[in-house]
Amino acid sequence: MSMNKGKYIWMDGKFVLWEKAQIHVLTHGLHYGGSVYEGMRTYPVEVAGKAGRRKRAVAGIYRLDDHMERFVRSQKEIAMKPPYSKTQLKRVCVELLKKNKVVDGYIRPIAFYGYDRLGIFWGDVPVKVAIAAFPWGAYLPNEMKLKISPFQRLSNKAVKIEAKVGSYYVNSNYATEHAKNVSPKADEALLLDENGYIAEASCANIFFVKGTTLYTPARGAILPGLTRDSVIELAEFFGLKVVEKKIKPSEIGKFDECFTTGTATEVTSVVKIDGKKIGDGKMGDVTTVLRDGFDDLIHGRLTKFKKWITFVD
Ligand SMILES: Cc1ncc(COP(=O)(O)O)c(C=O)c1O
Repeated sequence: MSMNKGKYIWMDGKFVLWEKAQIHVLTHGLHYGGSVYEGMRTYPVEVAGKAGRRKRAVAGIYRLDDHMERFVRSQKEIAMKPPYSKTQLKRVCVELLKKNKVVDGYIRPIAFYGYDRLGIFWGDVPVKVAIAAFPWGAYLPNEMKLKISPFQRLSNKAVKIEAKVGSYYVNSNYATEHAKNVSPKADEALLLDENGYIAEASCANIFFVKGTTLYTPARGAILPGLTRDSVIELAEFFGLKVVEKKIKPSEIGKFDECFTTGTATEVTSVVKIDGKKIGDGKMGDVTTVLRDGFDDLIHGRLTKFKKWITFVD
């Protein structure tokens, strides 16, 4: 899949042309994995037309404030002194969408240790920050199969698991590669934590449903996703109960439904785990309600949740 492009990328305080956004091959973060990033979406949202004109769609950045909060927190978790404040970064995102004319798209902020010396310790290596934004009308799978991974989710005794650090995705990649290539194959991996409890999928959080109650792994061995957080609030808004707890793989058989949540794949139904059907093996009613509800929410159609949208107008 070739990449969509935006005209500009913001790098260390300047908007540079997409092709010119380059770094040195001896960049520290490239060699030792010292980078943190965010993945954010912007969706078309309708606003009232000016001076009695018809409604029109503008870009609505979804949970910009929370993504930037996590971005700055992740920087601190890898010992960086954040060179830009949350407010500055939020302003850049808005300006970049305008400059690149992106309405339905993806925003990728990244901070990394730059080009200085080759010693492993990140100490006083200079920090670089960039933000890209490009059109992306994502293709969302309706249903997917998961496979429990032989690769354990990174332990919070080994890394700071709630930071979104680039090198952690080696763990996700080992798991995904195994899921896609080793028979019986699946679309994605489901990783367990060091104690054998369900943690998360390789790039998404997981929920199970029994009746009108949702169960999701408690924090500790997961990246607590913003979509996870949104779905918890949305479920409560719809009158569903949400329980955060440790879940064993042996409990999977008792659930009626399962779905994953994440910025890239939003709410996606899981119909099989390790070749065994969840419920009747089709997207369930609760998942459907939440998937549709989430679609309304991100497009600004639920008044209660407009608080999470930054309108770019
Ligand atoms: C490991 C991991 N877990 C969960 C998520 C979901 O997080 P969010 O909903 O904030 O995108 C992601 C995606 O960023 C992820 O990479």
